[in-house]
Amino acid sequence: MTTASPRRFLAHLYQDGPHNPFPGIKALERRLGHALPYQYGSNEGLDMPHHTLGGALGTALADLSRSYADADAWQLRQQLAERLGVAYENLLVDAGADSLLALMMRATVCAGERVITSAGTYPTLAYFARGLGAEVIEVPYSESFATADDASSSRLAPDLAALLAAARQHDARVVYLANPDNPSGHLHSDADVRALRDALPENCSLLLDEAYHDFRPDAAHADHAPMARTFRLRTFSKAYGLAGLRLGFMIAEPDDVAMLTKVRIHFAVSAPAMAAGELLLAHPEEAAAHVAGVIDCRDRLAEHLRSLGAEVLPSATNFLCVRLKSAELAAQVQQQLMAQGVLITRSPHPSLGHILRISTLEDSLVPGRLARLEQAIAEERRS
Ligand SMILES: Cc1ncc(COP(=O)(O)O)c(C=O)c1O
Repeated sequence: MTTASPRRFLAHLYQDGPHNPFPGIKALERRLGHALPYQYGSNEGLDMPHHTLGGALGTALADLSRSYADADAWQLRQQLAERLGVAYENLLVDAGADSLLALMMRATVCAGERVITSAGTYPTLAYFARGLGAEVIEVPYSESFATADDASSSRLAPDLAALLAAARQHDARVVYLANPDNPSGHLHSDADVRALRDALPENCSLLLDEAYHDFRPDAAHADHAPMARTFRLRTFSKAYGLAGLRLGFMIAEPDDVAMLTKVRIHFAVSAPAMAAGELLLAHPEEAAAHVAGVIDCRDRLAEHLRSLGAEVLPSATNFLCVRLKSAELAAQVQQQLMAQGVLITRSPHPSLGHILRISTLEDSLVPGRLARLEQAIAEERRS
């Protein structure tokens, strides 16, 4: 087990336990080496016929709904381990990346301790940290603008040096980095992320949110290796389209996985979600085709908006961002599109109010769909 000094987890977790009181029937069957078809011991064996559920949503879903999923996610972790080239013990499955953020906070941060994040990045981590009474310290993005001679100088990115400086200054427990980032779409290189991690104080963990990992240009050859003092989060919500089922996983060192397992909600992942994840991993070509389509659509939308004169930020995700000069105009565009039934995202953070984020779906390319945005781009060009 991880040693007590320096401390990255709550102090009491370095002692024995707590132990999950309900490892579940699937784990028991594995231990016994045989099935238990007559289940009279808990909720699984109930006689509920599920006519309504089965009729509306299908009998497979109704059947799965009677049982808890395997608390160890044995099958899914085996599949992930094989696919990613990591060990089973490096993997922890939970109900989406958000649940993993909450779990990681719960196991590492006490009230009054400090967590570092970027001002305007994916806000859920800060929300969970504040809920625990932690102090959230936000550092500004590093931002530069395209010039007439150099369009490639357009950049909005989490500032790794500033995150590190804040972690040191505030003796932080956790640094959060989304890579690729939401909402900027920026991708830092693996080498830069490792350098950040290496330079963090020993009692500070890197929470590396890789929810958009599958959309990285180098995803096919990407490094999935567990990194010391680092929690890498992935999700089935994006490349696999399962946001509504809630499924995600973490890659970390076995000792860190074991620490988090002490406090995780053991049946948080539903049986339908687990089964869907197993199924889609067994047919990876479907997610791969989806990702390729999203990237193609993203590139076409970026090209179209750039041809109108928009400043489109480089993106390694399934969305792209248009940077307007004024937050007021961005707010107006968002509201007017919403009135037409078109939902795009504008960060609620005051420092990023001028950024509009558009998920890159084929439908976003339908002529006229984003007409108000196109008009705003033209207005800014004229001004
Ligand atoms: C950076 C980032 N992390 C985590 C999540 C949440 O993912 P999940 O649906 O797996 O909870 C999102 C969702 O948009 C996200 O953008």
